[in-house]
Amino acid sequence: MKINEYDYYNNLANWSFDYINYTEEILTNWIYEEKIKELINESSKVLDLGTAAGEKILKNFPDCAEILGTDFSEEMIKSANQNLINSGRKNITFRVMDNLKMNTPNNYFDLVTARHTIIDPVQIYKTLKPGGHLIVRGVDKLDCWELKYMFKKGQCYKDLKPISQIDYENIIDAGFKNVELIPIHIREYYKAKEDLLALLLKAPILMDFSEENENNNLKLDIDMTLLDKYINSHKTNKGILLIRRYYGITAKKMVEYGE
Ligand SMILES: C[S@@+](CC[C@H](N)C(=O)[O-])C[C@H]1O[C@@H](n2cnc3c(N)ncnc32)[C@H](O)[C@@H]1O
Repeated sequence: MKINEYDYYNNLANWSFDYINYTEEILTNWIYEEKIKELINESSKVLDLGTAAGEKILKNFPDCAEILGTDFSEEMIKSANQNLINSGRKNITFRVMDNLKMNTPNNYFDLVTARHTIIDPVQIYKTLKPGGHLIVRGVDKLDCWELKYMFKKGQCYKDLKPISQIDYENIIDAGFKNVELIPIHIREYYKAKEDLLALLLKAPILMDFSEENENNNLKLDIDMTLLDKYINSHKTNKGILLIRRYYGITAKKMVEYGE
């Protein structure tokens, strides 16, 4: 049976990694959170797609007129609403919505953000105001490649075309202009095997939702012999190295008749 992505995220009900002991070195200078801060002012209306339990909005998005966070998982949205109460922040709402069946108003938002989630650029284009921006951060095919290569499976492992390129082309096809695709290179160092394992059990790095899952459950079975082999060949004095490859995309819906 295939692991259903909806059940997988609904079962997790949060997207926090605070309990994992790791550090990171960011080798490139395109920072998603900074791009968002540059574009939000007090009158902005912002939509965050695939928001999970709202962790990123509540921590990184500045106060503004309106922020809507959506996710297709009811359990994530329940946790997001609880996190919202605990945060005491205003002008933020969370609700269930499928990114592929968006029901937000046309020409409404100044900014749409999507971090590590599926997008439909045509629907995003419709919901943005003319002059509005789209900011995407995604996980690319070569993310954690040595690990995925060792296990011969994982997120995007079998993709013929990198997802970054597919998103980029679809965003241009949808009518966006000033579209930029930027690679993001990060080195992560996990303090101990338990920390790396905790990551792999939560983030779907070694998971491919389109593949058959022999064990028919939501938890991934990790081959510990292979994991030890990876760890032995990636030990550094900063911790166990995991090489991340993300991508950022910025794009604009132009106002008609020039700007
Ligand atoms: C990897 S998490 C990223 C969460 C958050 N954006 C972040 O960066 O921390 C992916 C999120 O996208 C949501 N998701 C996946 N497919 C979706 C879809 N078709 N519609 C709406 N949400 C979706 C999942 O439920 C999950 O909460």
